[in-house]
Amino acid sequence: MTKISGRALPRENRGAAIVAELMDGIRSVLAKYEVTYCEYTMAKEYLVNLGQAGEWPLFADVFFEATVEEADSNARDGSPGAIEGPFFLPGAPVLEPPFVMPMRAGEPGDVLVFSGTVTAPDRTPIPHAQVEIWQSDAQGTYSGIPYPDGRELPPEFNLRARLTADENGAYQVRTIVPVPYEIPTAGPTGALLTAVGWHAFRPAHLHLITSAPGFESLTTQLYFDTDPYLDSDIAGAVKPELVLGLEERTDLLPGERTCFAASYEFRLPRARK
Ligand SMILES: [Fe+2]
Repeated sequence: MTKISGRALPRENRGAAIVAELMDGIRSVLAKYEVTYCEYTMAKEYLVNLGQAGEWPLFADVFFEATVEEADSNARDGSPGAIEGPFFLPGAPVLEPPFVMPMRAGEPGDVLVFSGTVTAPDRTPIPHAQVEIWQSDAQGTYSGIPYPDGRELPPEFNLRARLTADENGAYQVRTIVPVPYEIPTAGPTGALLTAVGWHAFRPAHLHLITSAPGFESLTTQLYFDTDPYLDSDIAGAVKPELVLGLEERTDLLPGERTCFAASYEFRLPRARK
């Protein structure tokens, strides 16, 4: 009886081609490094543990989402997108002006006044666009996310909110300057990084989803130009156009702690017909 190899299966459609090339890629690495049965068994156990720990979304978003996002971003106009990551939560509070992100009294971190506009690809302002923001606190912890190290979490929806730009597409919100953080390292994803000797840091960033009727929503991240991890983001998601300057200001919020300002213009892609 003729043995049918997976390599010979039909690849006529996109799904079959992707799966076949993925399998080919794994096989070629196994062959190139002459992976042993011991290593193969360890890899299988690792993948089982990854699933049991519920870290498949984290693992996929850290190692693969940026590649998918890049293709998506290249296929449309407007500002560059960036990965959503695994820490978005629906149902964030809707703010009323003047916009201040939900935070604890004395929330640690430097104050950030983040402002700018939401425009069409031709830079026409989009009135009343919605801007959703989520970020970690000064300890690098997101609210509402169970971490494998069991750390104490900020209050529900801390540093998560939705706000609406004004009639000129302008917005301004007060928050804190985010800090670089390690992706959760106490589980299998972190164990893999330790095993291969890679750090687990992402540069400091704001997560944003901006949307308006007649436009595609834009999921992106914004970074800061003094960050030491811009060139070695473990998620590989930094794009030069998304790196902002931080300006120290004394006039924006008199009497406050050190205040920084950053601004950005979101150009939303027009909705595809
Ligand atoms: Fe993040």
